[in-house]
Amino acid sequence: MSQQFPALSETQKRDLHETALRIVSPGRGILAADESVGSMAKRLAQVGVENSEENRRQFRQILFSADDRINSCIGGVIFFHETLYQHTDHGVPFVKMIRDKGILVGVKVDKGVVPLPGTCGESTTQGLDGLSERCVQYRKDGASFAKWRCVLRISDTNPSKLAINENANVLARYCSICQQHGIVPIIEPEILPDGDHDLRRCQYITEKVLAAVYKAMSDHHVYLEGTLLKPNMVTPGHSCSTKYSPEEVAMATVTALRRTVPPAVTGVTFLSGGQSEEEATVHLNAINNCPLSKPWILSFSFGRALQASALRAWRGHKENEKSATEQFIKRAEVNSLACQGKYSGADNCGETNPRIYGSYHTY
Ligand code: 13P
Repeated sequence: MSQQFPALSETQKRDLHETALRIVSPGRGILAADESVGSMAKRLAQVGVENSEENRRQFRQILFSADDRINSCIGGVIFFHETLYQHTDHGVPFVKMIRDKGILVGVKVDKGVVPLPGTCGESTTQGLDGLSERCVQYRKDGASFAKWRCVLRISDTNPSKLAINENANVLARYCSICQQHGIVPIIEPEILPDGDHDLRRCQYITEKVLAAVYKAMSDHHVYLEGTLLKPNMVTPGHSCSTKYSPEEVAMATVTALRRTVPPAVTGVTFLSGGQSEEEATVHLNAINNCPLSKPWILSFSFGRALQASALRAWRGHKENEKSATEQFIKRAEVNSLACQGKYSGADNCGETNPRIYGSYHTY
């Protein structure tokens, strides 16, 4: 078998690994604030705010202007293209504001989910065209890591082998392109929570998907130490009638990871996937306390579960901005505890803290 070509140099590998480690250094996770314009429309509509460029900027400013309390909780922020070039009210670039806190900047580089012909309603993700050039530009503009989201669905017949393999392959191609440009790729093969499947079926599918992802990573010579995995937690489908404890969710999740994710992978940063803010935190805490050996850092890369309270507090009103920022800081702090298994405030998983679920979630 021939050697990998072109190989990364030892210096490139070291830099990628150090970047990945910094993002998930102890107690730190990722704020996913890279909702596309279309996803922001849905978020802002929930609180009666018009989806204008200025309102999107205002809401991102609320998150990014959090004080130094977040520096020990957040290691990376994922930006959408538009946000990467926006500024605060006082003209400071958002990228500078985040980097000045010692937080790394990431960017969503995929171009969205598209139908995968030949399947029953499944998808792949586009965006490889021009990716190399975008990586060069984004790196110049301050980004050190990237995200690419693929989506898989569970039904009696899905995900198909075709969808599993196609999405694994496109994720691996994205990773190898990013790494050639010194950008740490976050690998996101999200299995949607839609459906009435139970915990066991979600675990089984998660294992099949992750096994295919890491086979493709090997085929494409991806340097695993210079990557982060962003998977779903293993949870029952939203319409499943059986309830499971956080410990059961944690055991299913860690078991699936242990069977499929090489120990060389630097960190696993879970998406929240429409769980309530509290539920996502409690599950992350239980995952970190799961009594199985766990060779990776297990942290968060939450979108909705870090932003929902802040959005509800803001509702587009200037006078609410400070309290909205405080809500975000509170979620960052509890998730920082949870990724160290030290969260003990699990009190309100119920009605007052609703799931943030939209069916067949797009991003
Ligand atoms: P949620 O945490 O809202 O699921 O989103 C995270 C994300 O970045 C999805 O791509």
